[in-house]
Amino acid sequence: MASIPSSERDSFSSKFGVIAAAAGSAIGLGNIWRFPYVTGENGGAAFLLIYLAFVTLVGIPVMMSEFVIGRSAQKNAVGSFKRLAPRKPWFLVGMMGVAGAFVILAFYAVVAGWTLSYLFDSARYLVQPDKYGFGEMSTEQLRHFFQEGYDSFLAGTWKPVVTFLAMMGLTVIIVLSGVRDGIEKYAKILMPILLAILLVLVARGVTLEGAREGVRFLFKPDFSQITGNTVLVALGQAFFSLSVGMGTLITYGSYIQKRDNLANTAVSVAFADTFIAVIAGLAIFPAVFAFGISPDSGQGLVYITLPVIFQKMAFGSFWALLFFLLLCLAALTSTISVLEVVVAYFSEELGMNRKRATLIAGSSIGILGLMVTMSWGPLANVTFRDLNIFELFDASPAYFLPLGGFFIVIFVGWFYGRNNSKKELSSEGKRSIRYYPIFIFLVRYLAPIAIALVFLNVVGLIRF
Ligand code: PHE
Repeated sequence: MASIPSSERDSFSSKFGVIAAAAGSAIGLGNIWRFPYVTGENGGAAFLLIYLAFVTLVGIPVMMSEFVIGRSAQKNAVGSFKRLAPRKPWFLVGMMGVAGAFVILAFYAVVAGWTLSYLFDSARYLVQPDKYGFGEMSTEQLRHFFQEGYDSFLAGTWKPVVTFLAMMGLTVIIVLSGVRDGIEKYAKILMPILLAILLVLVARGVTLEGAREGVRFLFKPDFSQITGNTVLVALGQAFFSLSVGMGTLITYGSYIQKRDNLANTAVSVAFADTFIAVIAGLAIFPAVFAFGISPDSGQGLVYITLPVIFQKMAFGSFWALLFFLLLCLAALTSTISVLEVVVAYFSEELGMNRKRATLIAGSSIGILGLMVTMSWGPLANVTFRDLNIFELFDASPAYFLPLGGFFIVIFVGWFYGRNNSKKELSSEGKRSIRYYPIFIFLVRYLAPIAIALVFLNVVGLIRF
């Protein structure tokens, strides 16, 4: 590995590398698959507004706090709390993050597997256009294709399993090669290309006949659609999409060099992440309405809608191939950041070498994920409150991420000490932190109170 300045630890090599890696973690299926489907289920524009408020007022402060914790402690999610607050129970927040990483990766890599499967199908269609592929299906057939049809995609046993294992395997391989040579290198090239192709899709989407309705759905709020649960889903989606609340950015923060600007990084990452989500919405919803697809189609929404857009484009299968390829890669820059939380913990706290830590973490999450792949097939009747295993895994981050975020801001706001956080944010006095009063107000009061209110509302202690 190249020479590493300032410490023995692996680190990101440049400022752009830091932003690319953190943005690579943030930008992924959460933006392109999850954001459109939860926005569609929760009424559109009003949901988007609440989401944006949470990103700005809660998400960014949590992200900055994670960076502060990780970079000052120079440790993994659990070890950081142990170092900054020795012999206190704060490390449990990190433990919750490590446990959360298992849950998130187990279902996230399954969705990444669906993407891989669509990638193969687009490739097949490109080389053998006369063969049955999604290139010529009607929306009804596409829904069928996604839910149960063609090779029994979701309900099937082998296809989701193989594609899931492939994505897990790729994640393990990249994480094995470490931070600078693995994670950073891929993130830097891929994210900009993804944005470019999304813009092409938006151009096609908004010029479809009947697209207007979709644009209105995304941008014209109807607050009668908002319920207490919607607010929780918006908060959860903000955390999920920004990769905050479970120590991913504590871990990445520990690889950021001391001279880098944490506030600037956090704001840039949050901005890029939100921009991509909105662009993804703008690519999807016009087509959803133009083709009479129901906006609340759930987890299948983009997988049903996007192929329809590709069909309407010149060289559609080429675009499809490129898009699903990039989406797989965007998913990978996120899966590696989730796995890294566990690997950093195993290797620094449990004394395993990196290789062993990666293999053990990867294979145990692999086993958990195998159960998730069978949620519509052999394990379809394992349910809780009508949610199958996949749906339970997918819904749970809305609870544990904000809970983790709550303790993270409380820690930085009330326990860590102003001088310490000022020192970290200002790179030891080398840069101006005029925003500090706003930051401390958000982490001490606004963010924790907002999270607490959402939870109190969910358990029914208050109503809004
Ligand atoms: N933020 C990622 C996405 O939007 C998912 C993720 C969640 C990654 C939590 C790390 C931690 O795709």
